Amino acid sequence: MDRELLKMEHITKIYPNGVIANKDVNLTVKEGEIHALMGENGAGKSTLMKILFGDEEKTEGTIYYQGKELKAAGSADAIRLGIGMVHQHFMLVNSLRVYENVILGMEPKKGALIDREKAIELVRETAKKYNLNVDPMAVVGDISVGLKQKVEILKVLLRGAKLLILDEPTAVLTPQETQELFEQLLLLKESGHTIIFISHKIREVMQICDNITVLRGGRTVGTMPVKNATEEEISKFMVGRDVILKVQKEKPSFGELLLEVKDLNYTTREGRKALDHVSFRLRKGQILGVAGVEGNGQNELAEAIFGFYKNASGAVIYKGENILGKSIREIRDLGISYVPEDRIKTGVAENVPIWGNLVSDIIDDGRLRTRRFLDYKKIHRMTETLIRDFAILCKDDGHLAGMLSGGNMQKVVIAREFSSDPQLLIANQPTRGIDVGANEFIWKKIVEQRDAGKGIILISADLNEVMELSDSILVMCEGHVAAYFEDSSQVDEYELGKYMLGLKRQEAEA
Ligand SMILES: Nc1ncnc2c1ncn2[C@@H]1O[C@H](COP(=O)(O)OP(=O)(O)OP(=O)(O)O)[C@@H](O)[C@H]1O
Ligand SMILES: [Mg+2]
Repeated sequence: MDRELLKMEHITKIYPNGVIANKDVNLTVKEGEIHALMGENGAGKSTLMKILFGDEEKTEGTIYYQGKELKAAGSADAIRLGIGMVHQHFMLVNSLRVYENVILGMEPKKGALIDREKAIELVRETAKKYNLNVDPMAVVGDISVGLKQKVEILKVLLRGAKLLILDEPTAVLTPQETQELFEQLLLLKESGHTIIFISHKIREVMQICDNITVLRGGRTVGTMPVKNATEEEISKFMVGRDVILKVQKEKPSFGELLLEVKDLNYTTREGRKALDHVSFRLRKGQILGVAGVEGNGQNELAEAIFGFYKNASGAVIYKGENILGKSIREIRDLGISYVPEDRIKTGVAENVPIWGNLVSDIIDDGRLRTRRFLDYKKIHRMTETLIRDFAILCKDDGHLAGMLSGGNMQKVVIAREFSSDPQLLIANQPTRGIDVGANEFIWKKIVEQRDAGKGIILISADLNEVMELSDSILVMCEGHVAAYFEDSSQVDEYELGKYMLGLKRQEAEA
């Protein structure tokens, strides 16, 4: 168990645009352990793992794997040696079935044709062996993120991986899905696999990892055993100071009515009733937390308010006016902001420079113009302030947003949406994939917005986040409002859980 499986020594990585992502990094992983790789957004975690997997070339340094120098020329080599990686952003083909995705590039053949029966059987068997419950015939575009994750893991296992690299696998999972994943990872560990696990969540790391290596600013801070370490010690190790994830906030003082959602209904194209007679009110100066197991209508609620759907019924009354049926543009112009859940799909334009992403929502109005023309000096003054205020790690705001680390992309979206001075802010999973330091900062910003009299709808799968921030809490279950608590301190996590799981439901208000 104590044999070294992997040793990365003095790894330096300079990207072609001059960004130094890793500086003299060292990482040693023992066979059969679960090793956590932690560190702030942009610390260089994904880069280091891409180097190991052969996706990126190192600028300097040496890698030893199973005692021999690893000179992988690309990921095909790494896979052949038993190294597998599940990326931070999934790489599945949505239009294909699960089994087709899993065997992509290694299809069993019957003559010149793909042996479909054999492929399905192979996927089914491997899934069973590792207790990964997925239907090989399901179309990937239709399954939940939790299941997609399993498909990615299955893909890696089927290629014979002994060392699995999981880049923030839990960032997109619900607490329940996370626990399920952990059981599977422990099972893999028992069967002799080694796992490198990237996460920002200290509690998760404490639950399943043996050792932690921390990176900060591209350098190694060190490695420590998890056993006997406290949460405070680990967080200090990570950010170099104590971060206590708690919010300092005064009692709320609710102002006048800002938003009233009345009997909102929405049925998806597939015929699923995603919103089922949803009604609630939001006042100025109020943070309304929306709790729920993912996929119970929270996303649809946000999107319906923000003008995504043409066929929603009911009313969304904002400052006295029904905005249901208005376009996203019109809704934005009324002073509503939205931080979407999926920052890659709807949050950032990867091929647009960082500055463009930061101001894209206000590029058409007068603020950035001098006599009708875009004033680039003004724009850069503004983007520089945002980059500083939100601690977005980038060398130059002219770089493409796609080159940012996952967490820094999220910060770009948050900075843009918070800075447009909205009256109503809808924040959907605002701290997903965000490091503890930045998490604390975003929580503070949300409370600041509230204290400035804004209304906030906070959607989060992280119950701790909902409990910490919200003044009032609404629980969604299967598209309907299962419970509402005007005063969030009147309810605890355990009680919320019952409503989330549909074990309990408040009587509808008369
Ligand atoms: N393809 C690229 N080209 C240029 N710079 C890049 C590229 N990919 C990443 N970077 C930069 O390298 C640094 C490290 O990024 P990396 O993605 O490794 O961070 P991370 O630790 O995984 O962060 P997060 O927790 O946010 O995912 C960042 O400054 C990032 O902007
Ligand atoms: Mg990353």
